[in-house]
Formats: sequence, structure tokens, C-alpha cells
Amino acid sequence: MKHPLLAQKQVNVWVKRDDLIHPIISGNKWRKLSANLKACKNEGATQVVSFGGAFSNHIHALAFAGYTMGLDTVGIIRGEPEYASNFTLSWARYWGMKLKFVDRSTYRLREQSEFLQQLQQEFPSAKIIPEGGSNKLALNGVGEIISELQKQTDFDYLLCPVGSGGTIAGLINAADQQHKIFGISVLKQDGYLEQQIQRLLVDSTSCAQWQLFNQYHCGGYGKFKDIDLQQMLEIQNALNIPLEPMYCGKLFIAFFDMLKRDCFPKGSNIVLLHTGGLQGLGGLAQRRLIKEEQWHVPAFPKTGQ
Ligand SMILES: Cc1ncc(COP(=O)(O)O)c(C=O)c1O
Repeated sequence: MKHPLLAQKQVNVWVKRDDLIHPIISGNKWRKLSANLKACKNEGATQVVSFGGAFSNHIHALAFAGYTMGLDTVGIIRGEPEYASNFTLSWARYWGMKLKFVDRSTYRLREQSEFLQQLQQEFPSAKIIPEGGSNKLALNGVGEIISELQKQTDFDYLLCPVGSGGTIAGLINAADQQHKIFGISVLKQDGYLEQQIQRLLVDSTSCAQWQLFNQYHCGGYGKFKDIDLQQMLEIQNALNIPLEPMYCGKLFIAFFDMLKRDCFPKGSNIVLLHTGGLQGLGGLAQRRLIKEEQWHVPAFPKTGQ
């Protein structure tokens, strides 16, 4: 990464461009889903059921992955059926995903065993994957980022955005003692995410150091202010790296703020993980929450396609 502040602070920074893995299924979605979908195939499941909000990157990625791998997909979506024509869900339907809309109180049951048993009865040949794909299988897929990085650079710090905790847990699990993994929480939270990460790491023997930073959520999950968008656009344009405001925009704002505050000693080697999520720009542009011409907004599926 080239930026005047890096030379001034005497640090070396790289961006791990997981957004470039594939134009549709990329970033942490591919990392988390790959092991889960391989398990589906091995277990003989012909269908995958998972959960998400109406603009979910996970649902979008799962629909495409199922389509290319010959697996039927069902998305249990929090919200009203009207969402079916939004950017994310239009693509999901285009790739053959069946959508089941549930109200918020039903959605809250998504981790309860009784509810999951009922779902399994409704979809007997399905494997059920949790929201965001964040389960123990996902940790191994995410861990591949560390082995790739170790071949590329000797890094001290690795920064990533944190939503459900699955991605950072996979990074911590695979990292070495000398690595410091910093997570930028994209939502307002007070210890819940740390517990969630500990839970995912319960069998892990990792000695990597890790920490969550909770002051860069820009107002909460899915939220941001005009001033945040402005800052994200400045960073996007200075680095020539496409960003979106839900995850990586917040990550990059956090990084530059931490750099200004001298959180990294001189000579540090730092990696920022770009976790993709650019499909989210489609829904934001559709709702006019961002100006389409300023961002790298992907195309909407054409009617009749
Ligand atoms: C693009 C993107 N980056 C980061 C995250 C956060 O990852 P996790 O939920 O594993 O903490 C998500 C959400 O899953 C995401 O969609």
C-alpha cells in the first residue's frame, strides 16, 4: 500500500485483496463457505439452508456457490417478502435460491436446537449452515489466509473487520505467537463478540495475540454517517482499492486513525484483510444511501435473464 502517512510513520502495509478471489464469491464468504460446501458434498446433502438479512453478503455468496456446485439453496431471510426484489435477493433468486421470509422474533430462534430440528424436518436433505457461515468448519477455510500470507510477507499485525466473529476466529486459530490480530467491530457491542470468538476457539491451541476495537462502528451495524462515507471515499480514491461502507470502509477508517495515534511501532509490518462484500453496494445504491457514481457498484440482474 502506498500512502504518504505510511512513510511518515515508518510502517509497511499490505492489503490482502480477498475481494479479488472471484467477481461474485469472494472475500471471507469464499473462505468460510468453501469448507462448509465441501462437507455438504461429502455428507451427500443436496440442499443447503442458511440465514441472513435482506442485504446479506453471505446469502448472495451462498446462492451463487450453490448454483455453481449443483446444490439447492434456501435462504431464511429476516424481513418482509417485499425485499425479494432488492439487489442482493434478486441475484440470489436468479441463482435459484428459494427464499423463506421470517419475522424478527422467528429469526432470533436461528441458533436454537428445537427450531433447527423443525427446519431439518422441513428440509430433510439439507445441511443447515449458521448465519454468516461462521462455524468451526469455516475456521479452517479462513485459516488458509494465514498460510498464504506466511508465504508472502513476514507480518506483525493483521487487521480485519468483525461482524459475527467467524473470520477473526479463523485467523487467530491459524496465526502464530508473534502475530497480533486486530479486529474492527462493525457493530456496537460490549463483550458479546469476544465471547462469540472464544466460543469458536474453544478447541484451539493458538497462542496468537488478539484484540477487538469497538470505536469504529460508525453508528452501528449497517450504519454510517455522511462524514464516514466521505472519509471512505477519500481512502478508496487515494489507494485505488474499492471499498464498501459496511465492513472494509470501517476497517480502513480504523486503520488510518490507529496509525495517526501511533498504535503501531516504527518498522511494523501490517496487513489489512479486504474481506470483499462489494455486492452490498448494489443495495445501498438502490436505496439511494450512496451515490452510485462514486463507488464500484456491481450490475443488477437484467429482467428475463
Ligand atoms: C464483507 C464482509 N466482511 C467482514 C465480515 C465480518 O465477518 P465475520 O462475520 O466472520 O466476523 C462480513 C460478514 O460476515 C462480511 O460480509
